[in-house]
Amino acid sequence: MPTVKPVKVALIGSGNISYTYLNTLVKGGFNIIDVVGCSDLIPERSKARAELFGIRQMTNEEILNDPEIEIVINTTQLWNHTAVTRQILEAGKNVYSEKAMGDTLEGAKANYDLAAAKGLRLGCAPDCYMGAAFQTARKLLDDGAIGRPLIAHAMCYRGYNSHYAAGDPADPAAGSAGTTITHDMGGYYINVLVNMLGAVNRVSGYTKFYDERVYENPRHPRYKEPLAHEIGGKRRGDTVMLGALEFKNGCFGSLTFCSEGFFPEVPRMEIYGTEGILTLPDPNNFGGWGNDVYLTRVGNAVNGKNEVFRVPFTHGFGDTDPSIPTLSGKREPCYNSWRGLAVVDMAYAIRRGRPHRSSAELALHTVEIIDAIEHSMQDNKVYTLHSCPERPAPLTPGFFGGSIGEASIDNIL
Ligand SMILES: NC(=O)c1ccc[n+]([C@@H]2O[C@H](COP(=O)([O-])OP(=O)(O)OC[C@H]3O[C@@H](n4cnc5c(N)ncnc54)[C@H](O)[C@@H]3O)[C@@H](O)[C@H]2O)c1
Repeated sequence: MPTVKPVKVALIGSGNISYTYLNTLVKGGFNIIDVVGCSDLIPERSKARAELFGIRQMTNEEILNDPEIEIVINTTQLWNHTAVTRQILEAGKNVYSEKAMGDTLEGAKANYDLAAAKGLRLGCAPDCYMGAAFQTARKLLDDGAIGRPLIAHAMCYRGYNSHYAAGDPADPAAGSAGTTITHDMGGYYINVLVNMLGAVNRVSGYTKFYDERVYENPRHPRYKEPLAHEIGGKRRGDTVMLGALEFKNGCFGSLTFCSEGFFPEVPRMEIYGTEGILTLPDPNNFGGWGNDVYLTRVGNAVNGKNEVFRVPFTHGFGDTDPSIPTLSGKREPCYNSWRGLAVVDMAYAIRRGRPHRSSAELALHTVEIIDAIEHSMQDNKVYTLHSCPERPAPLTPGFFGGSIGEASIDNIL
């Protein structure tokens, strides 16, 4: 069997979520990936990650100037994504960014154009749609289990620390435009919808920001002060959104986000077809451990009730046991997931000369949809989208487990 030259990868932004990426890419058994090192503006963070995973602690400059590194992962905070991704592209390297692709449509589009002009690959999280639950659901839909899909329903109701924004509430940029729930969570739901139904054509909707709210987190420097919708002349992102989607395939969908409430989080995703209903789990996970796929078949009613099946996964890459301790011995977010799987896909795509699944078009789609729904509210208009991503190619069913050899992972991806 011919061997494939591993793709050298480095990571910028060694905070919380970098653990999960490094766990997947260093420990996941993917021979195509060679993680060289990681950096952070706060060197203690990159040092800790480098030591834990046996990689080099590097500076951003060392990563960007290393001619051998082909993919750089951007796991900085949302409000740094646009600038850091631009730096990586300008250094001539392929980028895989955490979501969202940018905090404004203009910034995201500029990086999309820059990547295209330079012939570089750009991809973006979330990649949970590649997980066991969503690939199983995709296969069911493609195999006709719900007949013709008609309506999709996606909702995320989640409280944030400060009840207004993602990220550390003490950080002044948290909650600025492009960092509220819509940009923070949109990609999870939109990537799954596109994986199932293809691109969205037109959107409209309503968004809202509750001006009468006060900062409710005692950690916040403005504790008890009223929330301003504008800070320093910059408008904050909205915290409630109800969007109407028209897909290219003719389906309609609803997209609802609300961060004005309190935990626990309520994620809901359903796809209704002529012959059945698919109920999907939280798209912030890969599947398993209570995140299951349910199929309701119409026409199977017994005693007036439809039959509901919990469907066994046909695909690998479900979440791993959440009770297994982390390598660091500390609580690490999402550590039992396969975040970073799309980087493995991008690495194979580079060597095979094929498109990568988490495309720049897919990433731009999320930012464009959210931005257009906000504009629809302001302008009282329906917007036709410019971005039109392909449905990412499905993964091959029947492969389970993580540490599988290069040959079989190449077959799956
Ligand atoms: N924490 C989670 O549970 C979680 C889950 C999924 C996705 N994400 C996403 O991952 C991204 C990072 O989140 P996080 O929780 O890891 O944030 P974090 O604040 O813990 O880490 C971000 C790190 O990036 C560093 N950084 C910022 N700008 C930099 C620059 N120019 N060069 C080098 N380093 C820089 C910061 O110093 C920080 O250590 C966000 O987009 C977030 O939405 C987070």
